[in-house]
Amino acid sequence: MRSTPQPPQALPAANELCWCGSGRKYKRCHKPLEGRVLPGVVSPMRSVPDHIGRPPYAETGQVKRRAEPAVKSPDIIARMRHAGATAAEVLRLAGEMVKPGITTDDIDIYVHDLCIARGAYPSPLNYQNYPKSVCTSVNEVICHGIPDSRELQDGDIVNLDVTCYINGVHGDTNATFTVGNVSDEDRHLIKVTEECMWLGIETVKPNAPLSDIGRAIETHAKKHQMGIVRAFIGHGIGEQFHTDVQILHYYEPRNNMLMRPGMTFTIEPMITLGSDKHRMWDDEWTAVTIDGQRTAQFEHTVLVTDDGFDVLTAPNAVSSQSPFAR
Ligand code: MF3
Ligand code: CO
Ligand code: CO
Repeated sequence: MRSTPQPPQALPAANELCWCGSGRKYKRCHKPLEGRVLPGVVSPMRSVPDHIGRPPYAETGQVKRRAEPAVKSPDIIARMRHAGATAAEVLRLAGEMVKPGITTDDIDIYVHDLCIARGAYPSPLNYQNYPKSVCTSVNEVICHGIPDSRELQDGDIVNLDVTCYINGVHGDTNATFTVGNVSDEDRHLIKVTEECMWLGIETVKPNAPLSDIGRAIETHAKKHQMGIVRAFIGHGIGEQFHTDVQILHYYEPRNNMLMRPGMTFTIEPMITLGSDKHRMWDDEWTAVTIDGQRTAQFEHTVLVTDDGFDVLTAPNAVSSQSPFAR
């Protein structure tokens, strides 16, 4: 015998009353519980051929941080331009593959092979034992979703986070894609999130405090009554995937380090339709919104220039041949 009410065949629209009789709007009641993302099966870890240069954690899975100058040399910057362009191209191609019925594991295989074809190591692979070559974060998954056997469904949104390691440096970029027909509310979330990223990027110039980035992002998200995830932040990047430079996506006046020409870091806001709080799946990677509402993210790797910024992961054409190939 069943005592809990079961959802009807025809579900209410988001703003109609919930079917359960609570008197609340469906979207504030049972909607978040229905159609939650469930973990699938994670396939065995893939290997990278020996001729591809690897970051130090590739063998051990252990990340040992070392001091790395926040301001990069011209040589490192030139290499980061190439790593960034490579990551941008892989992200664009992976995004073109997104459609109902493909699995996030299919996307991982494609990203893994695209990186290798360009002479790059897929930075996520074995980073602190992360088991895959890309992060795939669907619907209420905020970030670090592990590719698995789950098929993308019509109406899903999915973030693909691509990082490439090539010639000793990383380039990190992500974007949120729509799967088939997506609701207007989710499209708006995606649009506002991308705007948040760009408004953050546009504050970047020498002598501006890092807190300008978070202030611009927070102002825009608040205007649209959206949440900003605080638990995950942008980061310095270069020879290491993550350095100690911290980029907050909300205003924190104590985040007052001044930007200097030659600094490289990511700006990667995670914006939500509901709560900004998260919980972790048992895999200890997948971060989901506490209320099951949807969330989007965009990320670029940026360089502080003499008079502003350069986006190292801008989606422009890249040759498949590294200028540094021997
Ligand atoms: N690319 C993510 C970022 O933007 C980090 C992923 S770490 C991983 O910082 F291990 F999950 F890949
Ligand atoms: Co990043
Ligand atoms: Co990333």
